[in-house]
Amino acid sequence: MQPPGADGIMSDRAAPGGVGGGTRAAGGAAVSVRGIEKSYGAVAVLRGVDLDVEAGHVVALLGSNGAGKTTLVRILATLLRADAGTASVLGWDVARDPAEVRRVMSLTGQFAAVDEVLTGRENLLLVARLRHEREPAAVADALLARFALTEAGGRRAGSYSGGMRRRLDIAMGLIGDPRVIFLDEPTTGLDPQSRIEVWDTIVALARGGVTVLLTTQMLEEAERLADRIAILHRGTIIQQGTLAELRQLLPAARVEVVEKQPSLEDVFLALVGDDGADDEGAGADSSGKAA
Ligand SMILES: Nc1ncnc2c1ncn2[C@@H]1O[C@H](COP(=O)(O)OP(=O)(O)OP(=O)(O)O)[C@@H](O)[C@H]1O
Ligand SMILES: [Mg+2]
Repeated sequence: MQPPGADGIMSDRAAPGGVGGGTRAAGGAAVSVRGIEKSYGAVAVLRGVDLDVEAGHVVALLGSNGAGKTTLVRILATLLRADAGTASVLGWDVARDPAEVRRVMSLTGQFAAVDEVLTGRENLLLVARLRHEREPAAVADALLARFALTEAGGRRAGSYSGGMRRRLDIAMGLIGDPRVIFLDEPTTGLDPQSRIEVWDTIVALARGGVTVLLTTQMLEEAERLADRIAILHRGTIIQQGTLAELRQLLPAARVEVVEKQPSLEDVFLALVGDDGADDEGAGADSSGKAA
């Protein structure tokens, strides 16, 4: 664990005019969530979520459709206000210091944010300028190279494959060097090859020390990428731990079946049951563009 920032001692007191003019909460986690609640009308989506993401870790937030994964990530990214509870990113409180939170994190949403009319390079330039990068062209070119998009950089993003578009989307989120990134279903809708490309990208980010909180419904994705896995169900985190820890929740395999370890899918279904699917009703965003 590392302290949330090298530029000063943290305080859990309100400190107007302090470092960054904001308020930092004590704690070693890069992302810390306590008692977050959120309802849409009468529907309580988050009912007291507690979650920590250690700096430099990849944590997968698993949950069925409508479990509230996007809602939680949008609260962490300061796009949505919680009804109750607190959350911080690198010590910055999402409600009190949204500008500081936005400075240190990025969100790559469930639906690609790339402009299809612009080229890949133009998309990157646009974000680099918005982020007040001093040398936007250099930033754009470096990211194109890093994400194996140099050749495609001059082509309209609308002509990209799903995997290329997703890589571009993630690249756009890295402008400004966020230390914490939120990836909302980074591989949904991608074919296996593109999915592996995006997985490799996420692994490389984690090796570079970036803290990653990703949401997924894909159990294999969580197994492959995550240091820890948290399962969101009926508004709370019902279990979390390493894959090995989660596997231990099920009875040990008997001697004669020792080769068949429970998969994460076995654990997930045992915990969630087959009632996991939430209402597909109003507001479910899996079929259309995000607002
Ligand atoms: N703006 C909104 N207004 C009303 N209800 C909403 C709104 N946004 C989300 N919901 C509802 O909140 C619940 C949680 O939605 P959310 O998008 O957070 O789930 P999710 O876990 O990300 O699902 P998915 O796996 O389909 O992306 C769903 O029942 C959804 O219909
Ligand atoms: Mg979602």
